[in-house]
This record gives sequence, structure tokens and C-alpha cells, in this order.
Amino acid sequence: MANLTHRFLEKHKKLERNVSLLFVFSLLAVLVGGIVEIAPLFYLENTIEKVKGMRPYSPLELAGRNIYVREGCYVCHSQMIRPFRDEVERYGNYSLAAESMYDRPFQWGSKRTGPDLARVGGRYSNEWHVQHLTDPQSVVPESIMPKYGFLAEQALDVRDPAAHLIANRRVSVPYTDDMIENASADMKVQAEVDGDWDDLLARYPKAVVGDFDGDPKRLTEMDALVAYLQMVGTLVDFSTYEPDLSAR
Ligand code: HEC
Repeated sequence: MANLTHRFLEKHKKLERNVSLLFVFSLLAVLVGGIVEIAPLFYLENTIEKVKGMRPYSPLELAGRNIYVREGCYVCHSQMIRPFRDEVERYGNYSLAAESMYDRPFQWGSKRTGPDLARVGGRYSNEWHVQHLTDPQSVVPESIMPKYGFLAEQALDVRDPAAHLIANRRVSVPYTDDMIENASADMKVQAEVDGDWDDLLARYPKAVVGDFDGDPKRLTEMDALVAYLQMVGTLVDFSTYEPDLSAR
């Protein structure tokens, strides 16, 4: 036995002193280990827990989300409530992985200069958001958030809302043909006052409807951003949600 150990150590010494050999064997170890850990995730159904209430973004929400990304809101705001008591008490139920399943890319963020926004939907009125985005210091005097009033001046670019849905479908967001066909109409009607919202709400339950930016005559980037903010984190009903523990 001692002899065997000795022989093994001798061989290992050779390996440790030969750079190329060591490189090849370390690579092998990492590759095999990596494959063993990662490969099953592609085949296990239960790696993504399906949660009731989750649906793809409506065309207007998606446009608002694009503006959120474009303006770099994620640089100061996270969308990821961690399962710690102080966070849950301040922001609400901790974030579920499934809540970002249709986010391409996800907006978890890594910096909180401002508060987490994962459950900001429904917390304030549309007027509050418009006022706050236009002039944050008028609402929170000590705020260091930049002003985004220009969003209310800029008409929302609605040349081809369907193209955004199609692009998301390519990366596995389950937009149906029906949703893609009606993308333009859905985008417009969501921000209308007294619009005919039935079809929109059938396709996108819980979508917040009505004028958002205070100017019902125009569809602006402000409309889209506020429509998005008002739905963030509201899709899952936590009064009835129960974690699926069977998968663990
Ligand atoms: C330079 C950092 C910074 C950037 C960029 C920024 N914010 Fe903020 N945000 C803050 C800070 C700080 C606060 C807290 C003070 C306040 O309410 O203004 C805040 C507060 C908020 C709130 C209120 C949250 C709450 O729960 O009270 C919302 C909503 C918000 N920001 C949205 C946005 C959006 C949307 C964008 C992008 C268009 C954005 N922020 C960009 C720093 C930032």
C-alpha cells in the first residue's frame, strides 16, 4: 500500500513539474467537472419553477422596459429582493426566479443607489411617477436621481412593435401569433382613456391601462416607462402563492 502511494506521488510530481501536462490535466478536470454540473440543468424540467400569473410583457410594457434599459435605470436600481427580513419588510415578498423568466436581459442589477424596484408596481400613482421622473427633487428633496422629463416630450417610436415581440420569441419568450398580430393595436389601446381593453387584458392579464403621462392625446416614452413601472412585480399573487417544494 505504502509502495502504491509512493508510486502515485512520484507520477503526480512529474505532472506538477511539467507545465504542458499540468495544463492539459487541469483543463480536463475543469471540463469534466463543468459538464457534470452544468449539463443536467439543460435537461431537468424542474430547474425553472413555473409560477402562476407570469406572462410575457405587453407591447407597451416591453417598450417601457426597453427605455428603462436604454436610460440605464439598472445602474442605480436593482430588481432583486433578497430573502432577508429587512428587505422583505421594506420591499415586499422576495423575488422569485420565475419573475424574471421573460426578462431578456434580466434587470437584477448589482447596485442600489436608489431603492430596489422589483415591487414598485402599484405603489405610487401614475401622477407621482411622472412628477418624480420629471423632477425627482420636487418629491424627494434629497434625491440624487437625474431628471427624465424629456421622456414626456418624446413620442414613443411605434414603427414596428411586432418586431420586438418576434425578437423576444426567438429567445424563447412564448409570444403567440395572436399577440404578434395585434402588437400595434395592443400598444396603442393600453394607454388610451376609456379604450376597449378586453382583448388586451385577455392576452395580458393585470396589464395597467389608461393614460399614464397626463397627456391622453399623445403616446410618449413616458407612457411606456410608467406602464412598465406600474406592473413590475405585480403578476404573482403572493396571497395565494405557495413555493413548490417537491422539486427540491
Ligand atoms: C444616479 C442614480 C439613479 C438613476 C440613474 C435612476 N435613479 Fe431612480 N432613484 C434614485 C434614488 C437615489 C432614489 C431615491 C430618492 C427618490 O425617490 O428620488 C430613486 C428613486 C426612484 C423611484 C422611487 C422608488 C421608491 O420605492 O420610492 C423610482 C420609481 C425610480 N427611482 C425610478 C427610476 C427610473 C425609471 C430610472 C431610469 C429612467 C431611474 N430611477 C434612474 C437614483 C437613481
